[in-house]
Amino acid sequence: MPLLVTNAEIINADSRFSADILCTGETITRIDRGIAPPAGAEVIDAGGRPVFPGFIDPHTHIYLPFMGTFAKDNYETGTQAALVGGTTTIFEMVCPARDMSHAEGFALWRKQAEGKACCDYSFHMGVTRFDADSTAQLREIVAAGVGSFKVFLAYKGAFGVDDAELWKTLSLAKELGVVVAAHCENETLVAELQAELLAAGRTGPDAHHDSRPPRVEAEGVHHLCTFAELTGATVYIVHTSCREAIEAAIAARERGVKVLIETLIQYLLLDKTWAERPGFEGAKYVMSPPLRDSTNQAVLWNGLASGLVQTVATDHAPFDFLSQKPLGKHDFTLIPNGIPAIEDRITLLWTHGVKTGRLTLEQFVAVASTNAARIFGLWPTKGVIQPGADADLVIWDPDYRGTISATRQTQAVDYNAFEGMPIEGRPAVVTVRGEVAARDGGFCGTVGRGRFLTRPTVGSRAVSRSEQAG
Ligand code: URP
Ligand code: ZN
Ligand code: ZN
Repeated sequence: MPLLVTNAEIINADSRFSADILCTGETITRIDRGIAPPAGAEVIDAGGRPVFPGFIDPHTHIYLPFMGTFAKDNYETGTQAALVGGTTTIFEMVCPARDMSHAEGFALWRKQAEGKACCDYSFHMGVTRFDADSTAQLREIVAAGVGSFKVFLAYKGAFGVDDAELWKTLSLAKELGVVVAAHCENETLVAELQAELLAAGRTGPDAHHDSRPPRVEAEGVHHLCTFAELTGATVYIVHTSCREAIEAAIAARERGVKVLIETLIQYLLLDKTWAERPGFEGAKYVMSPPLRDSTNQAVLWNGLASGLVQTVATDHAPFDFLSQKPLGKHDFTLIPNGIPAIEDRITLLWTHGVKTGRLTLEQFVAVASTNAARIFGLWPTKGVIQPGADADLVIWDPDYRGTISATRQTQAVDYNAFEGMPIEGRPAVVTVRGEVAARDGGFCGTVGRGRFLTRPTVGSRAVSRSEQAG
């Protein structure tokens, strides 16, 4: 059935105008004023409200075996939560254990998602070791449409790679034109600091920050960028939390390194005092890199507004407070790392970014949708409202007023890190390829309709100015 959205205030990353949007099948086919509804069309009157391209979360963990347990969501709950919050495409990190081949990991993650995903999804292929079979397997996975890798400089013994593996991964990425997403922390420093803190009796969640201070993250960024400089690969630094890390990335960029920067909604809104809450409450706020001193938040907001930082993701990694975080009750190094946010990223970014005047509407779209689509090869199918693009639309309700609460959430985890925070607007209608998938805070789409998105590689072209500038 065709879908006609009338009286839309269309907001793209580089334009803003009033028009109607006609979607035929899964695609936007016409944008004009006064479009007559085709026979049998579903008509939604946007009433002059903003209509955004479907939002894209470039960094999620729906299926994640990690630190002795599994992230709580599955592809049904996680993608429904994404849709309720306005996210129509996610990029999931495939994180094979070190004793699993890349081919096995890729197959396992595909199996988890197939028939369950409700929004569209793509993968970053985690390169968690590099051995004799890796080159051939990674070539096949890239040929199957996974145009990006993920490496961890932390979590040695689990997902982390050593320097020889990093070199080989970036060299292959350069050859294939694959962007490499990277978790940047110096694992040796983390291990030494953790041991010192535990020996000094610091066993609670408040010690997590001091085991991974900003300089440890900045060293990881510098390290990665040195390898990127020498191989010529394009790198994308995930979950950047602090001034020191941004400065290291920008210094590399000034040397000509192709480096893109992601931050998270958690770092923009929460600071390290949340992880210092009394009792074990702080465990809800343990993630890596850790929540930082609040002075870093202005640096991140300014980075987004000025184009130094390209994307706002969630790194959604949900672990229950009551049954999973206590794995580290007596030793903070064993607390499963992660703070869930897939459901609330967009409403929080709107409330604290757009409503406060930190971001323009266009910048909001750029950092929450378009830049990820461009960097990772989905644009212009995703990330823009224009004829030929997928009919992924978010009709926004700017008059909604509410409060975040775990008691009302769709994501399958027993707490919400933003509990009690007020929200000033939310998606009224969310469509995925022409089908309404969420309305007014509830999922109403089709389970399993989410599509695995194949992506071309970026080739050896330099990252363009628009991708650099946000
Ligand atoms: O603490 C985090 N970030 N958990 C998820 C795994 C990762 O490092 O991205
Ligand atoms: Zn990470
Ligand atoms: Zn992650």
